[in-house]
Amino acid sequence: RRPALVDQHGRAKHKLRLSLTDRCNFRCRYCMPEEPRWIPKQQFLTRLELRSLVAEFVRLGIRNIRLTGGEPLLRPDLAGIVADLNALRPLGLERISMTTNGSRLAEALPELRRAGLDDLNISLDSVDPQRFRDMTGAELSPVMAGIDTALALGIPFKLNSVLVRGHNEQDILPLTAWSKERGMPLRFIEYMPLDAPGRWQADAVIGEPELLETLRTRYRVERLPRSEDPATLYTLDGDYRLGVISTISNPFCSSCDRLRLTVRGELYTCLFARQGTPLAPLLREGSPTELSSRIASAVWNKEAGYAAHRGPVERPITMHTLGG
Ligand code: GTP
Ligand code: 5AD
Ligand code: SF4
Repeated sequence: RRPALVDQHGRAKHKLRLSLTDRCNFRCRYCMPEEPRWIPKQQFLTRLELRSLVAEFVRLGIRNIRLTGGEPLLRPDLAGIVADLNALRPLGLERISMTTNGSRLAEALPELRRAGLDDLNISLDSVDPQRFRDMTGAELSPVMAGIDTALALGIPFKLNSVLVRGHNEQDILPLTAWSKERGMPLRFIEYMPLDAPGRWQADAVIGEPELLETLRTRYRVERLPRSEDPATLYTLDGDYRLGVISTISNPFCSSCDRLRLTVRGELYTCLFARQGTPLAPLLREGSPTELSSRIASAVWNKEAGYAAHRGPVERPITMHTLGG
């Protein structure tokens, strides 16, 4: 293996988030613009291109791949892609994960498991069908069926809940109780300004301090030492672990170990970066050395981090294209 990918601030990169499509069958209010600008499908990396590009990243030190979207389960060749990634383990790939809205998991999961998928993050913004619909534009029951399938197959998963004031703050305690009863790991996520331009409002963010205050009305809450997880972990009543991803109130940029690739092969070194580095042209026409040096220099130039006081990032690309 060649030396690990590292940036000018000394942060090594071990995780790659691979967006497999910008399409989604949900319309989460914190994610999708009302009129999304879709990437033409002819620009999508093919399965073969994905395989060679990811192989290069693994040779450069990536150990964990997370498949994202849009919704990765909308990609018809998903099981094949997972199998291709699974074949990269001898090069040093350790984990293949997926972040999904869960709605099509029940049908897809057995085959993905066989292909080599290790674990999942499933979005769940409410356990109340009506509020779930308000948050996502979709039905709750298929997601519940997906969660049951993951449980039945013994695939580890975490639940993700984005909190948006005026919409699901009343779900904090029910979601926590529901997940705690079942022993399912849950993470609350602060709403980030990466959805449609002009929609995010600072006062719609339910920050970590306010969330903790709500949790403390019901539970004894203790903070665990910070790990490399993007979430700060807490124990509730000593026996249940809950995470909080507080990008707005307490960003984890100083330990950021991840990179992102869009479905048309642009490398984004930060979720908040204004621009990506196009890799597809080099993949199609350049030499392998050119490709790896382009990747290494883009990573080296990664900014120190996103400062929340900068506020919303104005740029054409939004969350569903960048993979959350
Ligand atoms: P693991 O830590 O591997 O479980 O994955 P994750 O939590 O990064 O993945 P997931 O796709 O579940 O993302 C959960 C939330 O964390 C989403 O809201 C992401 O946007 C956010 N997130 C993921 N990576 C980053 C990052 O690099 N920076 C920031 N600020 N937020 C991130
Ligand atoms: N702020 C915070 N999290 C978001 N996600 C999507 N959009 C946003 C946003 N604006 C989350 C989804 C999913 C993950 C991939 O990113 O809920 O769990
Ligand atoms: Fe789809 Fe995920 Fe965005 Fe929701 S957050 S609209 S499920 S891509």
